[in-house]
Amino acid sequence: MTVTYKFPEGFWWGSAASATQTEGGTNEDGRGKNIWDYWYELEPNRFFESVGPETTSDFYHRYREDINNMKEIGHNSFRLSISWSRLIPGGEGEVNEKAVTFYNQVIDELINNDIEPFVNLFHFDMPIELQEKGGWENREVVNAYVEYARTSFKLFGDRVKKWFTFNEPIVPVEGGYLYDFHYPNIVNAKKAFQVAYNTMIAHAKAVKVYHDNQDGKIGIILNLTPSYPRSENSADLKAAHICDLFFNRSFLDPAVKGEYPVDLIHLLEEYGQLPTTEKGDKQLLKNNIVDILGVNYYQPRRVKAKGNLPNPYSPFMPDWFFDNYEMPGRKMNPYRGWEIYEKGIYDIMINLRDNYSNIESFISENGMGVQNEDRFIKNGRIEDDYRIDFIKDHLKWLHQAIEEGCNAKGYHLWTFMDNWSWMNAYKNRYGFFSVNIETKERTAKKSASWFAEVSKNNGFHA
Ligand code: BG6
Repeated sequence: MTVTYKFPEGFWWGSAASATQTEGGTNEDGRGKNIWDYWYELEPNRFFESVGPETTSDFYHRYREDINNMKEIGHNSFRLSISWSRLIPGGEGEVNEKAVTFYNQVIDELINNDIEPFVNLFHFDMPIELQEKGGWENREVVNAYVEYARTSFKLFGDRVKKWFTFNEPIVPVEGGYLYDFHYPNIVNAKKAFQVAYNTMIAHAKAVKVYHDNQDGKIGIILNLTPSYPRSENSADLKAAHICDLFFNRSFLDPAVKGEYPVDLIHLLEEYGQLPTTEKGDKQLLKNNIVDILGVNYYQPRRVKAKGNLPNPYSPFMPDWFFDNYEMPGRKMNPYRGWEIYEKGIYDIMINLRDNYSNIESFISENGMGVQNEDRFIKNGRIEDDYRIDFIKDHLKWLHQAIEEGCNAKGYHLWTFMDNWSWMNAYKNRYGFFSVNIETKERTAKKSASWFAEVSKNNGFHA
């Protein structure tokens, strides 16, 4: 039986990308360096096939062609990020006029093509000079970020009406301070919590500046990974609850409710891990909650109770409270090593409906990175039916959530065209368009034309 999945009027169809992963032009027009440029200079071997961020997909020069392609495949919205070190080289001080021209042109081109720009301010790309001052560990950097946000709102806020302070702020915490996959490659939980906390303060201050001066909406983009326990046994349930506190609610609660979960505060207190705070922070968080929430969803987190007690002499880690659980029979994306669990998208939305005042939200990233996609070329085009199925299966659950009253307004794929995936560089490809990394030529995959139809019909049959 064929079922029709029709989405609400005005549903946002589009995709998301980030500056460091797509722009290239890193040495042009006065752009400053960020941690990725620096880390690549230091340790190129840590990046897949030693490919660095200098040129990536060359959006800096080819944005007109790309925006035209977006239009062709039915985008009515697109998320980009501003590169802080391009707009304000060094992170503080003078604005780079060439960067202003570039972002103005991109924003105007999108609007002229009836594509609403959603603009994110920070996508893992700390200017290196500010990282040298301690990055998010340092409240001076928080102030520099707020000035950068203020400048961006002033420059582009007349046309951009949806802003996001951060993309996945937990990831620099995990990568840079716990699990060694982002610069500065520190492993220190206490610092990690300080970084997370200060990021949240930076976020709330930017929200305040926005609400005081502008009339659009401002939000944050969080990667929400539902924590599923192995069983209903209380030890497994506790492990899942603690994971949820560390990896979801550490940002979700302060962003949407304006306060940290009491359980999280107690746990950190018990282990002497509470970050340093300043007078007025609590009120700042309380008064500056988001208008809109972007949800990135790729994979669930499955956990079980700890099999062995952690070594009491080892430094504190969130992993003291859970073990990862490999559920038998789980469906995997073997290239990325991530489980595919479509219903997770529904569970997140129901949680937002029931516990987070049904805040206006959208799927701001979802997608499937696949290696060696050239093997699927037929008649010059990558036939990525697996990606079409992946999107469809997630959209079905999103549709179900909307039917049940969830306030989800759109779906953005990660990503528009193949891009530079941090340490994985160009290993796994995510785009509607493939990119030849030598010639930079773009070619539409089968999913691109499928998506054009979905957007045109505001839904699909399956
Ligand atoms: C999200 C990020 O975590 O996932 C993107 O916002 C990232 O920047 C995407 O590229 C896919 O993950 P990866 O590591 O395969 O590129």
